[in-house]
Order: sequence, then structure tokens, then C-alpha cells
Amino acid sequence: MKKLSLVVLISGSGSNLQAIIDAIRNGELNAEIRAVISNRAGAGGLQRAEKAGIATHIIEHNHYPDRESFDHAMIDVIDPLQPDLVILAGFMRILSPAFIEHFKHRLLNIHPSLLPKYRGLNTHQQAIDSNDDWHGASVHFVNVELDSGPLVIQTEVPVTKDDTAETLAARVLQQEHKIYPLAIKLYGEGKLRFDNDTLLYEGRPLTSPLRLKDNRLIMPDHV
Ligand code: GRF
Repeated sequence: MKKLSLVVLISGSGSNLQAIIDAIRNGELNAEIRAVISNRAGAGGLQRAEKAGIATHIIEHNHYPDRESFDHAMIDVIDPLQPDLVILAGFMRILSPAFIEHFKHRLLNIHPSLLPKYRGLNTHQQAIDSNDDWHGASVHFVNVELDSGPLVIQTEVPVTKDDTAETLAARVLQQEHKIYPLAIKLYGEGKLRFDNDTLLYEGRPLTSPLRLKDNRLIMPDHV
């Protein structure tokens, strides 16, 4: 099977990037990361990329007059690399509709909540404040609405009564590191694809997400 080519966009520590690098290195994921792009010069993920021998680009959003020109600068770097997927891994900028449209059906994001719950920021505190028993993370294809778009896979994490946003975030992050490489792998294996705007898993519409539970992939009932 063909090696999947990726470009990864980051803003921060890049632990999800690291999980993808590790999955490639240990042979779980048949992919190559052609570049890592950060909108912040100090993002820790840049060092992770350099250590792994991956090309890095710093494109600082505050050097551009508006969102559209910043996004265009990223497109100009990404397009020549011809990635199969563009991976948002803790990329903390809202993308313009033009960028999202340009990479339609090729743009994946990970979000630390059980979407559609808690779009945006501070998801862990929101789950605690709402007395949720379960929190988690979601991988989804990106469309123009924030933290929206077809869900690929989710994983659930129990919320304990002693949890703070930090302890809960740390446990969710551990699960993120499992579901993101897995989602990319499923795409690379051709199991996920679009029929117009409908996401299919093994040829059938994925109307609710796959789930990872106890390290096992669980299909929704209809698949
Ligand atoms: C993760 O929680 C991700 O879900 C969110 O931002 C965080 C990034 O963490 N979008 P890292 O940079 O991958 O360590």
C-alpha cells in the first residue's frame, strides 16, 4: 500500500505530532511527514520535528495583515509538498473558509472533547463544571464551522471527582496520542473516504464515529 504523505500544523508542544512520528517510526503507520508548520517560533513541536529529521517552517500569523493572507502563505508552502492529508495537531488558529475549502476532505483535526460537546477552548474545565461522567477526544475532518465536520473516531475518558482541568487534560492527551495515529492509519489503508460530502468507513456512511475502547476499535452499530 502506498505511503501516505502528511503535512502537520502545530502551535504548541506537539505531543500529538510526536505520537504520529512514533507511530511511523515503529511501523504502525505507513506514512511520511513532509513538513511541520508552526505559527509560533517557540513551539516545542518544532524541536520534536527537527529531532526526527523533518523539515520545519515557521509562518507567524502576526506577520500577516489578515487571516486570508496568512492562510495563503501556508497554502503556498503546503501545496508543492502534495500531502494526502493536512494534519492539525494543536494548531491554535481559526482557518479561513478558503483554506478549508482548498484542503476539503484532506484536513484532519483533533479536539479534546466528545464533539459535538464543547467546541472551542477550555473543554476540560467545561466537562468538570458540567459534572460530566465522561469526557474525551475526537478526530474529525474539518469543515467551515469551528470544531465541526465529519467525526472519525472518539475515545472516552472517565471524569473523577478529584479531577482538575490539568489532570483531566493529561489523561485525555494520552488517549489523543492513540486515536490520532489510528485515524490517519485508517485513512491510509483506504478504509475512510468521502462520497461527495459523506464520510464512508469501509464503503458505508459513518454517521456516528468509530470508538477506541480499551485499545480496541469499536464500530458503530450501523457499520
Ligand atoms: C491537544 O489537546 C489537542 O487536542 C488540542 O491542542 C492540544 C495540543 O497538544 N487541539 P499537543 O501540542 O499535541 O501536545
